[in-house]
Amino acid sequence: MLQRRCCRVLAALMMVFFMTTVVMAGGHGEKLSKKVGILLVAFGSSEDSAQVSFENIDRKVKQAYPDIPVRWAYTSHIIRKKLAKEGRILDSPEVALAKMRDERFTHVAVASLHTIGGAEYHDLRRSVGAFKVMGGFEHVILAYPLLATQEDMERVVDAILATIPKERQKDEAVVLMGHGTHHPSNAFYAALMFQLQLKDPNIFVGTVEGYPGLDLIQSMMLEKKIKKAFLVPFMSVAGDHAKNDMAGDEEDSWKSILTKAGIDCVPVLKGTAEFDEFVDIWVDHVGGPLSHF
Ligand code: CO
Repeated sequence: MLQRRCCRVLAALMMVFFMTTVVMAGGHGEKLSKKVGILLVAFGSSEDSAQVSFENIDRKVKQAYPDIPVRWAYTSHIIRKKLAKEGRILDSPEVALAKMRDERFTHVAVASLHTIGGAEYHDLRRSVGAFKVMGGFEHVILAYPLLATQEDMERVVDAILATIPKERQKDEAVVLMGHGTHHPSNAFYAALMFQLQLKDPNIFVGTVEGYPGLDLIQSMMLEKKIKKAFLVPFMSVAGDHAKNDMAGDEEDSWKSILTKAGIDCVPVLKGTAEFDEFVDIWVDHVGGPLSHF
């Protein structure tokens, strides 16, 4: 289960071509009056706890940019399909953008609620690029994910330091679980660990599907004779990976593996999007595209 892959939204490409026809048909070259909108794009989660995070982000974006309509889209095809069976119909980014075109938005800031500019983010960039090529909007611009610039890196380090459990002692470890990816942006995780350790040498960053893996983190902790570790998801929501791969009772979970290695584990089931310290970074990033409109 540890190597579980997130799904790729292959069907999305088909949808873009389909929607191209729809959007073009609505054009007729008429001049539209300026209408600015924000599209928030998350990976999605079928967990109810994730809803709290999404509502928090929604509220904070609306506070920061009042009077700008906000729409939502979810990149995960699997999650959209799962929720559709429960009667909750969620839009893909392509469908959401097509609908916004239909609602006569002229300028759209697309905000990625992803953690790094990895595979999901670049799929989204392709979709936004397709809408640019189509010319349906005057401007459609994709904002940065959580970790993009060096300034983001520093803010994320501070956000992590500010949100680690208060009861944690300095000789105890904090192990962040990132998702990890085959995408070149995977290097962000090791870069983050380096910069975290400059401030607090007992904070580690591992990933489920990339580098650094748990083996490396475990040996680093054993070398430091660490006896106790707080396991914290470094993902926007504490979803399936956090509940099972990190904190689950199965023998291949991080909790089980580290416990067996003699490290006492305290899992913390809260995603980054539940904390304002992280949400503020995403919210500020929406201002990037908006400043160009
Ligand atoms: Co995954």
